[in-house]
Amino acid sequence: TGPFVLDCDPGLDDALALQYALGTGRYDIKAVTAVGGNAPVEHTYRNARALVKLFGVAEHIPVHRGVGGKLSRRIEQSASFAFHGESGLGDEKVDDSGVPVQSESAVDALLRLSHEYEHELIVVATGPLTNIAAALIQDPGFAHRIGKLVFMGGTVLEKGNVTPTAEFNIWHDPEAADLVASSGANMTMIGLDVTHKARFTRDHLARLERAGEPLEFTVRMLKFYFGSYNHFHRTDSVPLHDPLAIGVALDQAFVQTEKGTLFVETASPLTTGQTVFLHEHDAPGTSLPPHLTARTETSNAHAALDLGPKDFIE
Ligand code: BDR
Ligand code: CA
Repeated sequence: TGPFVLDCDPGLDDALALQYALGTGRYDIKAVTAVGGNAPVEHTYRNARALVKLFGVAEHIPVHRGVGGKLSRRIEQSASFAFHGESGLGDEKVDDSGVPVQSESAVDALLRLSHEYEHELIVVATGPLTNIAAALIQDPGFAHRIGKLVFMGGTVLEKGNVTPTAEFNIWHDPEAADLVASSGANMTMIGLDVTHKARFTRDHLARLERAGEPLEFTVRMLKFYFGSYNHFHRTDSVPLHDPLAIGVALDQAFVQTEKGTLFVETASPLTTGQTVFLHEHDAPGTSLPPHLTARTETSNAHAALDLGPKDFIE
């Protein structure tokens, strides 16, 4: 890929996403930025640093700490802390010793890289969109300086995974997500419509187990992840949410997308964090309040609505 930043909240599947990005050797990762979500940012920052150490790239890839709070006024506790374990990485005792703490914040790093690699930078976000929104608030030009944003979050036709209508990353900071959605940036939403179809099964797991020592950490994380899915959603296979977003940044053929305008519900207590996607060809016939109609003219959003011809998990 072109120059690439991963903004994440590790997070079991964020960790898998990072491992996938590093493992293929096809990503030119300039930085990892951490955001609060699956665990508070102190934890996700520590986890991200421990992961770059574990995967052997701590010398080359700086990890920047992101925003701790949310833009949203809501201060509900995250439902997800138990899902990814208290630390964010299941039962793992992670070691971040010796990995430098960058003095430059995640937002400053994102803005700097957007200048250094103008129109080329690929930003992949696999957590709540708080850092990306904070970068846009500091400098709205960020939206048009990046090449593209690929984010895991939201859902169009599937139901939500944290409330009946909302997906976790968007629900966690809906105001941030709406700001990003209305920024005009070239973006691709990898929501539950596709990630719920990218299922990792017990057979896949058994195959990884046979690889032995090099993948032991990965297998332990996956086992915790299977346990959570089984407990909270009564399923015995797991969706690879965040790794799919990384995959799409590299190869668009993993999904089929449609162009349109993305909106995020921020007001309703019942449906906060719901993503509403208006297809390009629907726009003229669908009536929206005027200030929302205006967004259809500047939108450069794409939603992945189905998996593509290429098998992501194989
Ligand atoms: C998203 O929420 C988090 O729990 C996962 O890491 C993923 O980014 C899925 O809804
Ligand atoms: Ca995540």
